[in-house]
Amino acid sequence: MNELLETLGYLPWWAYLLIFLALVAFWDIFIQRKHTIKHNFPIVGHLRYWLESIGPEMRQYFVANNREELPFNRIERGWIYASAKNENNYEGFGTDRDIYAHQHLFVKNAMLAYQLPAGHPNTTDPYFLPCAKVMGAYHKRKKPFRPASIINVSAMSFGSLSAAAVEAMNNGVLKSGAYHNTGEGGLSPYHKKGGDVIFHFGTGYFGVRSEDGNFSMEKMKKLTAENPQIKAIEIKLSQGAKPGKGGVLPGAKITPEIAEIRGVQVGKDVLSPSTHKAFNTIEELVVLIEEIANETGLPVGIKGAIGKLSQWEELADLMKKTGKGPDFITVDGGEGGTGAAPPSFADHVSLPFSYGFTAIYRLFQERGLTQHIVFIGSGKLGFPAKAAMAFAMGVDVINVAREAMMSIGCIQAQVCHTNRCPAGVATQSKWLQSGINVPLKSDRLAQYFKTFRKELLEITHAAGYEHPCQFNMEDVQVNVDDDYLSSDLRRVYRYQKDLVPFNGMASLKSCEYLGTMPNKS
Ligand SMILES: Cc1cc2nc3c(=O)[nH]c(=O)nc-3n(C[C@H](O)[C@H](O)[C@H](O)COP(=O)(O)O)c2cc1C
Repeated sequence: MNELLETLGYLPWWAYLLIFLALVAFWDIFIQRKHTIKHNFPIVGHLRYWLESIGPEMRQYFVANNREELPFNRIERGWIYASAKNENNYEGFGTDRDIYAHQHLFVKNAMLAYQLPAGHPNTTDPYFLPCAKVMGAYHKRKKPFRPASIINVSAMSFGSLSAAAVEAMNNGVLKSGAYHNTGEGGLSPYHKKGGDVIFHFGTGYFGVRSEDGNFSMEKMKKLTAENPQIKAIEIKLSQGAKPGKGGVLPGAKITPEIAEIRGVQVGKDVLSPSTHKAFNTIEELVVLIEEIANETGLPVGIKGAIGKLSQWEELADLMKKTGKGPDFITVDGGEGGTGAAPPSFADHVSLPFSYGFTAIYRLFQERGLTQHIVFIGSGKLGFPAKAAMAFAMGVDVINVAREAMMSIGCIQAQVCHTNRCPAGVATQSKWLQSGINVPLKSDRLAQYFKTFRKELLEITHAAGYEHPCQFNMEDVQVNVDDDYLSSDLRRVYRYQKDLVPFNGMASLKSCEYLGTMPNKS
């Protein structure tokens, strides 16, 4: 034995390398039976798998051009990062977009821009941009809510996001006067940092779940009574990335903390079915909405991705007939994000935002209901010009998910479903999330929201308006072909938006239902 060790000690370094490669080749050819490529091309076959694994990073950093990548290209990501850091987010030399390209948007500027009169709220606060409508006002809910920001954090649960990310977002919405939608995982301690909250639940009823996995009104009442920062409740029917798709939360991921927040058992698989147990029909959905609103006093809304319209028509007919129903409707585009979904769903099921929202708005407009509802839009709308388009179409508030993630450091690694998010945003790994500096990242989210509102206001003023709610379908044009066929939104989507009652920004500022503002106690 000693002789062998002595001989090995005399070997040059390259002999060790040769021995190692010989062992790998032996393993590839004679032992492993899973990979044909490794068997047929021992040693070099490994390179293929390694190169494939680093392909996305290589393309993202070196190969893809600035406007090429999806879901968000480098220019879009760069704009969010720079805005969040309050750095120079301008571009020099002119646009690098092909402005004649299909689907390119143009916001029509006025000959003379809107001038802020003396004493206007935006002269002292260029970021002040609340929602022009009040949630729950039409249905006379006990606690109506006017979101203090037109851009807010969309539904993303603690579970799909890390504790550090959720905490940074909640602190960030507090600093920017926005609201924070909890997503399906219940109200966690990280959602309780002072920001306004919209409590969201889906088919798993996490946080408001009875023993048998159904909806518990008692728990809902207790939750909202104990947490006055909850300003509204959202019932999830579906989301753009995976409408109608249930899911399983594996027992291994259910820590005592997650079990307590979600109201489930530690270590036991939990099913989120594809349909709700608390209602089966549109009529029953409206009954549930009214019951929750009556019991909690809060505005209640629904979130859905749009496909077939017949049940939406049924809902609108029922609302017209009874004067009851949701206080807000969140329309999520098929381009929307998710923690995890099968590509066949994410790529193909449900309509993209512009088509889905158009269909829904027209349907409620035909029945004279648009003034009764706050319309929330989501699906890559976290860019001021895209938001202007959404407002022109009838949206009152924007929700952003992935843009908010990017503002706190997400690098679009697209591995949310693996628990290996390198930025610590979409992972439960203690090590990966420990890299998140919560106070700093909350400043970043707040600054992104503020910059967004300032730029959207600047576009609004350029178009001659005071508030984006004044945009209409003829203010935005979209390329459907060359100039002779390029058309305003009204002609492309064949409706005109109803006027949103708006009496000036000052009246929004003095509204008693205005959400929590950063400098308001
Ligand atoms: C990590 C992650 C988790 C999400 N979780 C939920 C959820 O719990 N419930 C839901 O309705 N939507 C969920 N969504 C969808 C978003 O709320 C949003 O509707 C969608 O991503 C579109 O917005 P975006 O384009 O700004 O990302 C999630 C999205 C992401 C990226």
